[in-house]
Amino acid sequence: MRIFSGIQPTGRKHLGNYLGAIRQYVEGQERGEGIYCVVDLHAITVAYDVVELRARVLDTTAMLLAAGLDPARCTLFRQSDVREHTELCWLLASVTAHGDLNRMTQFKEKSARQRELISAGLFLYPVLQAADILAYQTDEVPVGDDQRQHIELTRDIAQRFNERFGETFKVPVHRIPEVGARIMDLQDPTQKMSTTAGSEAGLVFVTDEPGAIVQKLRSAVTDSGGEVVCGPDKPGITNLIEILAVVRSSKVDEVEASFAGGGYGDFKQAVADELVEYLGPVRERYVELRGDERALEGVLAEGADRARAIAAATLATVRERMGVGAT
Ligand code: TYM
Repeated sequence: MRIFSGIQPTGRKHLGNYLGAIRQYVEGQERGEGIYCVVDLHAITVAYDVVELRARVLDTTAMLLAAGLDPARCTLFRQSDVREHTELCWLLASVTAHGDLNRMTQFKEKSARQRELISAGLFLYPVLQAADILAYQTDEVPVGDDQRQHIELTRDIAQRFNERFGETFKVPVHRIPEVGARIMDLQDPTQKMSTTAGSEAGLVFVTDEPGAIVQKLRSAVTDSGGEVVCGPDKPGITNLIEILAVVRSSKVDEVEASFAGGGYGDFKQAVADELVEYLGPVRERYVELRGDERALEGVLAEGADRARAIAAATLATVRERMGVGAT
C-alpha cells in the first residue's frame, strides 16, 4: 500500500492541517509506504516572498517531523527537488480537460482573491497535484475535505491517460477522515479554518503557546442554546465537539455524552486544556528541530533521492507510452 500526500509551505500550520491531514500522514507510516511532499512549486502560483519561501519549506518540514514523521520509515521531500513532477505535469496537461480545470472550486476561490495576477500556474495547479500523486503509483491520498475535488480530478486524468495510452497509472483513492476533515474557523464556524481567509483569532496554530490556545478557545463563537450537542444549527459547538473527538480519539457521541448537563463555559475550557496537552509536545519538538537547518536539509535531500528513483521509473514509462523522446 503506497500512501502519498502533499502540503504547502505557506504560513504556519493550523489545527485544520493537523487534524485533517498531518495526523493521517503519521498514521500512514503504520499502514504502508508513506511518501510526503512539501509542495513549494504549488506555493509560487500566488503572490509570495522569495526569501521566505525557503524558510517556510523548512518550517513545514520541521512541523511534519515534530508531528511524528520518521525519515527512517517514510519518505519526506521538497517537490522542486524532484523535477519529474514538473515534466509529468506538462504531459498530463494534454489529457486534462480545460473545462474541468475551470470548474475547480479552489481555483475560483483563489483567483477571486488575487490582487494583481491570476497566473496560468494557478489554473494548472490541479494538474501538478495530479502529477505529484500519479508519479508514485499511489494507492491512497490522505487529505482534508477541501481536497476532495482535486483527487477526483486526479482519478479522471489517470483514467483518461490509461484509456488513451494503455494501462499506466494506478487510480488512487482519497482518504478523508470521518471526523476532523473540515475544521472550521473559531470566529466564523461557517468558514473552514484557513490562513488565507480567516482572522488570527479564529485560527489555532500548531505552534501556539498554551496561553494563546486557551484564549482563542475561550473566545470561540458558540451558538444559541446551551447544550453540548452537534447540529446543523450549531456550527460553533459542532466544530469544537469534533476537535475534541479527534484529540481524544473518541467518537462524537461519546464527547457529547461526557458533557451531558454541562454548559458551554466548562466545555470550552476542557477543549482548550486537552488541546494544549495534545499540541504541547509537538510544539516543543518543533522548536528543537527547526533550529538545525542542516539536519532538515539532510532529511529532504535523502527523501528526494528516494522519491526521484520512483518518479523517474514512472516517467520513463509515460514518455514511452506517449511517444515522447528517443526510443
Ligand atoms: P494545503 O497545504 O492547503 O493543506 C494541507 C492539508 O491540510 C488539509 N486542510 C484541512 N483539513 C481539515 N480542516 C481544515 N480547515 C483544513 N485546511 C487544510 C488539506 O485538505 C490538506 O490535506 N493542494 C494541496 C497540497 C497538495 C497535495 C498534493 C495534497 C499538492 N499536491 C498531492 C495531496 C496530494 C493543498 O493546498 O494543501
